[in-house]
Parts: sequence; structure tokens; C-alpha cells
Amino acid sequence: MVFHKHQKNSRAPHSSQETYVWDILVRTFHWLLVLLFFIAYISEDHFLTIHAWTGYSITLLLIIRIIWGFIGPRHARFSDFIFPKITVIQFLKDTLSFRAKRYLGHNPAGAVMVFALIFALIVTICCGLILFGIEEGRGPLATTLSETSHIWGDIFEALHEFFAHSTLILIAIHVSGVLVESLINNENLTASMLNGYKKK
Ligand code: HEM
Ligand code: HEM
Repeated sequence: MVFHKHQKNSRAPHSSQETYVWDILVRTFHWLLVLLFFIAYISEDHFLTIHAWTGYSITLLLIIRIIWGFIGPRHARFSDFIFPKITVIQFLKDTLSFRAKRYLGHNPAGAVMVFALIFALIVTICCGLILFGIEEGRGPLATTLSETSHIWGDIFEALHEFFAHSTLILIAIHVSGVLVESLINNENLTASMLNGYKKK
């Protein structure tokens, strides 16, 4: 079956106008990340153990996604969405005038957002781990930080809160960007992140 041979690394398209873009790992990563971020955000007050575990789970997700960024299929690879600064600026200008070029993988602005979100999550989690160790005497850094002054606990609490809220702002921009691009190109990007397919 010659047809199957050519389909080895991609699933059969829903129709001849569609192509498989987001593999199962990227999609699972994305929606688990959304769920865990939401749980982390609402659990901080009364459910600190759950809160810490959502952080550990997000860490695991990020590690897997970063490895996938080097070895995964074309559109999952970081090399597919590293754009020069000028391309990002031009893309944003074109978006403002509703003339932005369509990309099958991440567009230049979306790509910057992917890196910003990953970075913001890492910093938020690191500050949370330090805070957990100093103020609660718990987590993997508890022993190392057991003698640390509570002033540092206050500083890391403020930093953790600041980065958690900054991540939330980035998410709001991210979702707005997804909606705007979906409108401009008359496609449903969220559905593509669910089923993996985009129109060609
Ligand atoms: C992306 C993941 C995370 C998000 C979105 C997040 C978000 C938040 C937010 C919004 C607060 C409230 C800040 C405040 O009002 O002072 C908080 C508090 C806190 N977080 Fe996180 N956090 C995350 C991960 C973690 C991790 C991995 C740990 C530790 C293992 C952690 C430990 C703490 C601690 C100890 C507090 C203080 C809770 C309290 O005293 O009420 N967080 N977090
Ligand atoms: C319900 C709200 C959300 C929707 C509708 C949404 C939608 C999407 C879509 C459509 C993409 C692909 C963008 C493209 O076509 O280039 C994407 C990518 C991404 N989103 Fe979201 N998103 C949401 C919430 C979030 C949240 C809460 C986070 C972080 C905590 C997040 C992090 C990411 C990341 C890291 C990527 C890159 C995926 C990858 O390449 O692995 N998203 N999102």
C-alpha cells in the first residue's frame, strides 16, 4: 500500500483541504497545561499540597515539551518557529492592518508568545519552590533553605505572585491573539489545537 507508506509520520487528513499540524504530544501538552495552570491558580490559598503538585506536574510537562522542541515533528520543533525580530515586528504591523501572512505552524507573534509563556511558567515555578522551602519548610528545597531568613520568604512570595499574575496577563494576550488570527484567516485555531488539523 503505497499510500500508507507516504502517510507514515502524519495521520490521514480529514479532507484533501486539510493537513496535520499539531501532533498528539503538543496537543496533550497544551490542554494539560491549561488545566494544571487553572488548578494552580485557584488552589494556592487552601490547597497548598495540590498547588505544589500542579507546579511539579507543569515542570514535567515543560521538560517533555522542551525535549520535543528538538526531536519532535516539524511544527513542534523550536527551529520551525524562531523568527528574526524584524519578521515579528512586520507581522504585528501587518496584523494591525489585517494583512498578516498566514502560517501553518506558529506565526512569528505566536512564537514569541510560546517562548514568553514557557519562560514565565519556569520563573513562577522556581519562585514557588523557593517560597515553599523557606516559608513552609516543604518541597525539594526545604533542607537547603531551612536557615534562610523569612525576609527572603516575603521577597519570593511577592516575586511568585508577580510572575503568576504576569503569566496570567500573557495568557490573556495569547488567547486574544488566537482569536484575532482565527478571525483574520477565517479559521478556528482552537479547534486545530484540539484535533491537530489545519486547512492547507
Ligand atoms: C504555574 C504554577 C503556579 C502558579 C500559577 C502559582 C500561583 C500562585 C498564586 C497566584 C499565589 C498567591 C500569591 C499571593 O497572593 O501571595 C501562590 C502562592 C503560593 N504558591 Fe504558587 N503558583 C505556582 C506554582 C507553585 C509551586 C511549584 C510551588 C511550590 C512547590 C508554589 C508555592 C506557593 C506557596 C508556598 C504560596 C503561598 C501560599 C500562601 O501562603 O497562601 N507555587 N501561587
Ligand atoms: C482556553 C484558553 C486557550 C486557548 C483557546 C488556547 C489556544 C491555543 C492555540 C490555538 C494554540 C496554537 C497557536 C497557533 O496556532 O500557533 C496555542 C498554543 C499554545 N498555548 Fe494556548 N490556549 C489557551 C490557554 C493557554 C494557557 C492557559 C497556556 C499556558 C498556561 C497556554 C500556552 C500555550 C503554549 C505554550 C502554546 C504552544 C504550544 C506548543 O507549541 O507546544 N495556552 N494555544
